[in-house]
Amino acid sequence: MLLEKKWDLQIYCNYTENWGGLMRFLKNPVILAQHLLRQILRPGERAIDATAGNGQDTVFLANLVGKDGEVFAFDTQPLAIHRTAERLKQTGIETRVYLINAGHEKMKDYVHGSFQAVMFNLGYLPGAGKQFATRPETTVPALQQAVELLSPGGILTVVIYVGHPGAIEEQKAVEEWAASLPQDKWDVLRCDYPNRINDPPYLLVVQRVDL
Ligand SMILES: C[S@@+](CC[C@H](N)C(=O)[O-])C[C@H]1O[C@@H](n2cnc3c(N)ncnc32)[C@H](O)[C@@H]1O
Repeated sequence: MLLEKKWDLQIYCNYTENWGGLMRFLKNPVILAQHLLRQILRPGERAIDATAGNGQDTVFLANLVGKDGEVFAFDTQPLAIHRTAERLKQTGIETRVYLINAGHEKMKDYVHGSFQAVMFNLGYLPGAGKQFATRPETTVPALQQAVELLSPGGILTVVIYVGHPGAIEEQKAVEEWAASLPQDKWDVLRCDYPNRINDPPYLLVVQRVDL
């Protein structure tokens, strides 16, 4: 196997060191997204969590960017912003995070400059009602803004769920959008689980490749 970049080597080592690691790495799109982001996002850089929810991804990004970095986290639900704020406070890293109680489709009204990473975790906030789930008419414009905000080499990760009402329409719209991205500017990768039952979530990754 030819390993071209440092991050190829790290991923390769992670799953050849033990077989339990391999299954964990492949099994869950959130863990897979985090593995990729660990290779890309460095201390002092900037990131966006487009769907803050319970704040797990926000905390993950805030830890990676460190005290000199910045994270902007969006969510339409005050409950999600509250939960994320609480989680950040517990970990003592709230000062590097800007919490924005607004839709990610308004991203460019709130953030400027470029970003090394953007995370989307689509769907709904567990325990808070499926009516507040992400929707194609706002998700797709938000994704387009996100890829335009990426710095060269930066990545967008999108965890896609297909099991709740409206999810199939959103999945279709996101897939069509991803397939339409010009390949001289962005690479697109889909990691899914074809032999799994019960509509497993999967991951889309977009990397800005032009310099
Ligand atoms: C699956 S949850 C995110 C989980 C989260 N990343 C975490 O680590 O806990 C999806 C979130 O997207 C939020 N959401 C729905 N529509 C949105 C929009 N237009 N802009 C921003 N967030 C939105 C929901 O309120 C919900 O909290």
